[in-house]
Amino acid sequence: MALPPGPRAPAVVNLARFALWPLQTLHAWRGRYGEAFTVRLTGFGTGVYVANPQAIKELFTGDQSDLHAGEANSFMEPVLGAHSVLVLDGEEHMRQRKLLLAPFGGARVEAARETIREVAEREFASWGVGERVVVRERMRRLTFEVICRVVFGVTERERVERLRERLVAVIDGSPIFMVVGAARKDLGPGSPGRTFKRRLAAADEVLEAEIEARRGEEDLEERTDVLSLLLRARDEQGEGMTTRELRDELFTMLAAGHETTATGLAFAFELLLRNPRVLGRLREELTAKDGDEYLDAVAKETLRLRPVIDGAERTLTAPRTLAGWELPAGTKVYPGIALVHTREDLYGDPHTFRPERFLEDGVESYSWIPFGGGIRRCIGAALAQAEMAEVLRVGIPALELTPVRERPDPVVLRGITLAPKHGVEVRVVRRLAPASRPVAELAA
Ligand code: HEM
Repeated sequence: MALPPGPRAPAVVNLARFALWPLQTLHAWRGRYGEAFTVRLTGFGTGVYVANPQAIKELFTGDQSDLHAGEANSFMEPVLGAHSVLVLDGEEHMRQRKLLLAPFGGARVEAARETIREVAEREFASWGVGERVVVRERMRRLTFEVICRVVFGVTERERVERLRERLVAVIDGSPIFMVVGAARKDLGPGSPGRTFKRRLAAADEVLEAEIEARRGEEDLEERTDVLSLLLRARDEQGEGMTTRELRDELFTMLAAGHETTATGLAFAFELLLRNPRVLGRLREELTAKDGDEYLDAVAKETLRLRPVIDGAERTLTAPRTLAGWELPAGTKVYPGIALVHTREDLYGDPHTFRPERFLEDGVESYSWIPFGGGIRRCIGAALAQAEMAEVLRVGIPALELTPVRERPDPVVLRGITLAPKHGVEVRVVRRLAPASRPVAELAA
């Protein structure tokens, strides 16, 4: 059994190219080696990229017993915890996943839209005319608050701030601690390992305090936030979740859900500002309140052209034939999300930002996969899309913005996400409409 050919450069060179120019590098590798190629990347090991929707469908559907995704994600365990749905496989994964799926269903997400709009109205009301704004940073603040309110059920500003301070300190400092085990070693006061331990303990303290406080709330039975629903949830054996399990899932949802969505939103602003025709049509449709089709298409087209995560990785636990290759057990397979999204045969003129394509053609299954697929498909996909739509619905008609930089922000690897290098810097030119509620009311 041989792996498909791929770049022969040392793993560290491949990683450097991928980190600095992820999209160009993937396209260059596909151009040279075809729909399946093997890449060695320092810190990630050796993996096979597949850019064929049929092969990806086979990977995401059918028998999953010989595929592990949690194993590949296990580098996140020191931060997310051993019970995190992201790092588990097999039955344990399904148990946690089933408990989490219900609170993220359609009805709950619809109910969250009003909260998202409220948070977005307050955010955009605070953008001053003439101000220079780094969109990704502001969107991170916004998506963090949405998770706090929708997932944790925490609305008081002070508690949101405390959670933000402690959790973001762990998340922002964690890539190195996740990948390099030695960096986590506590070598005494002042050592990076000690700092990591201290920050993690501080984050755990506030999370566990929220969980315990909620357990005791009188209105627990009526509450609709995800934490309350999880506290009431029971698995098939009638067992509820332990505090530790809840802590791990809350951390996971925050880590998986806030930066990703904020990055998707930053890309949406970038693409809209660089494509005045699309921006104009979106603004018109939002002002005329003419249905949401175009708005949803803008969010979809953004995630097609700028997928935030490119590695919905699976590890084979038994040999498998995929894309015509007999791959041995132990092989890591990466569905090439960005590569599938830019196939000429699936998307005409694939590098152009044209949301209309989602209204006209209907997209074939496994051609649009920004949220992965199968039994590991993103649990927050509907919430993330609702967030993108509601934030654009509030922000686009309210403000005229202009990009600060002459050229589009390059896409780089940031942690495990593909992100705009400078976070998309814009200047507020003028206010087109007042925020839909009086600013005084929003600031309260
Ligand atoms: C634009 C925003 C987002 C993107 C692009 C995104 C993308 C992804 C991708 C690609 C995966 C891996 C899927 C696979 O392996 O097949 C994933 C998994 C996951 N995502 Fe998201 N995500 C986003 C937002 C969110 C939000 C808002 C939440 C929750 C609040 C969330 C929670 C999760 C969880 C818990 C998993 C693990 C699922 C499992 O292993 O069973 N994500 N996401």
